[in-house]
Amino acid sequence: MPHIGLSRVSKQFPGGVRAVEDLDLIIPDGAFMCLLGPSGCGKTTVLRMIAGLEQPSAGEISVGGRVFDSVARGCFVPSEERGIGLVFQSYALWPHLTVRENIEFGLSVRAVPRAERHARVADVLRLLNIEPVADRYPSQISGGQQQRVALARMLVVSPQVLLLDEPLSNLDARLRLEMRAELKRIHQTLGSTIVFVTHDQLEAMTLGTEVAVMNAGRILQVGTPMDIYHRPANRFVAEFVGNPPINIVPVRGAGAGRLGASLHEFARRRLGSAADAAWWIGIRPEAVRLGGGHGEDRWVHPAQIETVLPTGPTWIAGARVLDATLFGVSFEKIAAGPASCSVRAEDLHLFAEDGSRLEAAPRPSEVGV
Ligand SMILES: Nc1ncnc2c1ncn2[C@@H]1O[C@H](COP(=O)(O)OP(=O)(O)OP(=O)(O)O)[C@@H](O)[C@H]1O
Ligand SMILES: [Mg+2]
Repeated sequence: MPHIGLSRVSKQFPGGVRAVEDLDLIIPDGAFMCLLGPSGCGKTTVLRMIAGLEQPSAGEISVGGRVFDSVARGCFVPSEERGIGLVFQSYALWPHLTVRENIEFGLSVRAVPRAERHARVADVLRLLNIEPVADRYPSQISGGQQQRVALARMLVVSPQVLLLDEPLSNLDARLRLEMRAELKRIHQTLGSTIVFVTHDQLEAMTLGTEVAVMNAGRILQVGTPMDIYHRPANRFVAEFVGNPPINIVPVRGAGAGRLGASLHEFARRRLGSAADAAWWIGIRPEAVRLGGGHGEDRWVHPAQIETVLPTGPTWIAGARVLDATLFGVSFEKIAAGPASCSVRAEDLHLFAEDGSRLEAAPRPSEVGV
């Protein structure tokens, strides 16, 4: 299966919009790469360039070692010669063809024999749970069903590279979950390289073997979901990924207060010289322990739990500590009132003035050297 390489790719639209800026990205063979980022950050543009629906203004794109775009060499392979399956945010089904005919269309143009065509269409109809609407026209089915027909139409031709642009956005929660599981299974069985665009961080984290976080036309971090979550490369990534969002406490500069000072002092003691340069400390809500928790490796402080938001399985609590509020999340019931708040040193994320991550290294005295 082919890998996809983007090297120094930029895209400037007529009128001056710079949608993608100097982007480098390698999507390995058989990866399930999720492009994650806020609306307007350039995700769809990246996908459209890989598909050949948009030409880069600079840089090079290759798939499976074959150069599809090279601005410097004046090379551009048209979309239909790229052998790439696509499902876009706005999926246009043929209105005059039934669901079954829409799905079969791609096989007919590839001259697949009739019996095989029918068998493959029947398989994907079943897979995506749209058999009951197979003989209706697109205008006679729901948005979620249309989305599944668009997916079916792509899957039926078994492409080696699948580009999916928010393909699950019209589905309700239950179907979304089922389709995510289905996509993951399809990826494991087909072994195809998948590029999946979403602005939903949970979707990216649950589906991707790798996640590329984008903002303002640039890639801020590429890594496994665990990397992205536990070692965010900068403040933007830390704040974009995770729900409820990470607590960010200013420890230097105008915004820094007493909570920041206390955490900073602890971090400097425990985490070495990286903490000296920190401007912000990030703490994920599940790392904020309210009640219990003590010991050398923890920052501990009295707190007042002011708000409790039950989500069903968890409780989100807003705790006033010194002059600021920290949000914590717990699987055990939390009640408003006084509590002890604690955080382990290893759960503190340190960020420099420019927002980049500072890697903590415990001082030699702390590791017994
Ligand atoms: N054809 C175009 N002409 C001019 N500007 C465009 C064009 N297509 C996209 N843009 C601009 O380029 C930027 C990136 O757009 P893009 O569609 O790639 O974002 P996105 O990350 O997919 O957003 P969303 O999550 O909302 O779909 C935006 O500022 C958008 O307005
Ligand atoms: Mg988009």
